[in-house]
Amino acid sequence: MEDELNPSELGTQSYWQEAYSKELRNFEQHGDTGEVWFGEDSALRVIECICNCGIEKNAPIIDLGCGNGYTLLELAREGFTNLLGVDYCTEAIDLAQKVCNAEFPSLRFQVFDIVNDDISKLGSKFSVIHDKGTYDAIGLCPDNAKINRLKYMDQVYSMLEDNGIFVITSCNWTEEELKKQFSEKFKVKQVIPSPQFKFGGKVGSVVSSVVFVKQ
Ligand SMILES: C[S@@+](CC[C@H](N)C(=O)[O-])C[C@H]1O[C@@H](n2cnc3c(N)ncnc32)[C@H](O)[C@@H]1O
Repeated sequence: MEDELNPSELGTQSYWQEAYSKELRNFEQHGDTGEVWFGEDSALRVIECICNCGIEKNAPIIDLGCGNGYTLLELAREGFTNLLGVDYCTEAIDLAQKVCNAEFPSLRFQVFDIVNDDISKLGSKFSVIHDKGTYDAIGLCPDNAKINRLKYMDQVYSMLEDNGIFVITSCNWTEEELKKQFSEKFKVKQVIPSPQFKFGGKVGSVVSSVVFVKQ
């Protein structure tokens, strides 16, 4: 497998605890809902893709590392009703509940570590598994990044219904790297186009979004 990412504080739970404690305070004091990682455009491209995949509106959908819950809030606005957000950071879950539950009380949030917790805590399997930036954070862990990435892949595979989709958006791995890393258990259904840039004769994207199905 390819080289690992350089470890970073973004791969530690303490970093996210501190970040979401601040965002929680900002929300309580100023109503600011916090950062949408990789920008709203990238989130909206993914939401449009999920809406166009023929998924039933009551199908179970989980957002791994949901942060402030922005993606689930937008999916709820599109009419999806069976939504669960998980994050290993209690502060993120508190923020997501405060941001989303006034408008959609049925939106569920749960503290859950996608690498280390038992997936039986989540109940049944999911038709859609969404990740934006969480696999990236796991790949930046100062300890055992590769082992944690492999555990993540096993967990996602076990949580996904046989005909479900896994939608991942990354800014640390290219489309080709994602395809290669997940290829043992998943095959590509679709690549969600994202804006490209050209530099030194090479074309690249700032973020990569890929939709996988089980092999
Ligand atoms: C870059 S942020 C993205 C947040 C959100 N998905 C978004 O797009 O705004 C990464 C998120 O992953 C969460 N996270 C990192 N490792 C995790 C793990 N092992 N289990 C659950 N959540 C995790 C962090 O707490 C943080 O909320």
